[in-house]
Amino acid sequence: MKVGVLTGGGDCPGLNAVIRAVVRKGTQEYGYGFIGFKDGWRGVIQGRAVPLDIPAVRGILPRGGTVLGASRTNPFTTENGVRGIRENLAKYEVDALVAIGGEDTLGVAARLHAEHGIPCVGVPKTIDNDLSATDYTFGFDTAVGIATEAIDRLHTTAESHMRVLVVEVMGRHAGWIALHSGLAGGANVILIPEQRFDIDQVCAWVASRFEASYAPIVVVAEGAMPTDGDLVLKDATTDSFGHVRLSGVGEWLAREISARTGNEARTTVLGHVQRGGTPSAFDRWLATRFGLHAIDAVRDGAFGTMVALRGTDIVRVPITEATAKLKTVDPALYAEAGVFFG
Ligand code: F6P
Repeated sequence: MKVGVLTGGGDCPGLNAVIRAVVRKGTQEYGYGFIGFKDGWRGVIQGRAVPLDIPAVRGILPRGGTVLGASRTNPFTTENGVRGIRENLAKYEVDALVAIGGEDTLGVAARLHAEHGIPCVGVPKTIDNDLSATDYTFGFDTAVGIATEAIDRLHTTAESHMRVLVVEVMGRHAGWIALHSGLAGGANVILIPEQRFDIDQVCAWVASRFEASYAPIVVVAEGAMPTDGDLVLKDATTDSFGHVRLSGVGEWLAREISARTGNEARTTVLGHVQRGGTPSAFDRWLATRFGLHAIDAVRDGAFGTMVALRGTDIVRVPITEATAKLKTVDPALYAEAGVFFG
């Protein structure tokens, strides 16, 4: 049995831990051979591959990023994409694919399996934690830790100058990073994409924090929108890859808060710092277990499935369960945090 491995979408701390676990167990226990495709689906389409064996995965467990490279290429929107995949899987004599990725990468794996009979097993990843079917994705815990540390640091400088500090964290469609880091870091306002915010209410919370003689910290997810969405949408840009960039909500908030309350405000955009560097112990643990169970799924011929965390168990679910709908923050969960606002 020869297994191809790829990492697609945005990189995420823990990807290397999955690759290592897949290769270690597959080689040691099942005698499989491995090949790594470079840069997600793009490398499969273009036939760019590297050998993967135990020496190749030695020492990569604590390393951030992915040794295989990543891209957001989708074979279904790339000319001759699926044909290229078929040809290269045949050329490299690959019997099964382990696709490690988020919604897009897993969606491709599900379609390749369902529509073209290509044997794929999925491993879910995203720092955003917005994939359905799994309690957590690896990368999320690391991102929350980085954002929390940043908030802790911002408290002391905010207090020293009695300024409003706005922290923009990642999360275009879901506010998991904002909610978890905001709670862990003791933020005074947390704004998430799932619920539009009222700028007057935000200013009232800011004012009440100052009245208590403390400086407010506002945590905002990059996809959060005010009730009057046009205020931010007019700042949206489309990059050369066609991705809509909504970044700007943090800057916009600082400007508005300052203009409306008369308090000085600054913005920190954490950006890709949240995705870089070594994974937390939890993410290494989860990614490693995902890898061990993914290669078992290959052995069992459980194609079209992906591994998922349920409680403390790793289970197999149809990939389509994860890609059908994003897992967003429940309003009741968000409401819990409200007691700390202001
Ligand atoms: O999905 C992961 C993520 O980091 C999001 O939180 C963020 O909006 C996006 O990727 C950024 O994408 P890129 O690295 O392509 O700018």
